[in-house]
Amino acid sequence: MDMFIRDATEADLPAIVDIYNQSIPAGWSTADTQPITVADRLDWFRKFDPARRPIWVAEVDGQIAATAYLSSFYGGRAAYDATAEVSLYIATAFQRRGIGRQFKQWVIAECPRLGVTTLLSMHFDHNEATRRINESLGFQPLGHLTEIALVQGTKRGLVISALRIPPKPETP
Ligand SMILES: CC(C)(COP(=O)(O)OP(=O)(O)OC[C@H]1O[C@@H](n2cnc3c(N)ncnc32)[C@H](O)[C@@H]1OP(=O)(O)O)[C@@H](O)C(=O)NCCC(=O)NCCS
Repeated sequence: MDMFIRDATEADLPAIVDIYNQSIPAGWSTADTQPITVADRLDWFRKFDPARRPIWVAEVDGQIAATAYLSSFYGGRAAYDATAEVSLYIATAFQRRGIGRQFKQWVIAECPRLGVTTLLSMHFDHNEATRRINESLGFQPLGHLTEIALVQGTKRGLVISALRIPPKPETP
């Protein structure tokens, strides 16, 4: 499999929105219950910063197959500057091919450059694929907020996991 990860551009937004919307019907990935639109997400997209809080896309065989991005934690208060949350979405047709694990591993490798030393992953407690990926990459589950979401009529909990990443060594 030929995978190429790069910073997303605004031209990628329709594909990003489409991939995100594909995850809604399954009911185990996102707390959104209705599809989002490109217009909904334009301001959101423009706030990403490739030097600090990037959004990436992964192209597989020339097609945009996945997106991942980092968000600041807790409204971006300064004390949390070195903490970011990772979000990862693989298009349905490309799932279960190892792309999710490989993409998250790549995001982790980018963290020192971005000044991120604590990477958070928040996922529903019935999201088995994310649980498996996180466990294999060394994330530690730190919290479980039980029954805080209502998804398709069922109460679901949120697991918060963290990976500690050594900072980039200072250059003399
Ligand atoms: C969760 C997600 C990122 C996983 O990506 P993926 O490329 O399909 O996962 P991988 O192929 O790397 O598989 C990782 C592991 O999860 C398992 N897995 C994948 N999909 C699964 C599913 N639907 N149910 C159970 N296990 C699953 C794989 O078998 C593999 O297991 P292993 O540890 O034994 O090897 C992807 O399914 C997705 O984008 N889902 C919708 C959005 C989402 O949930 N994002 C995370 C919250 S931000």
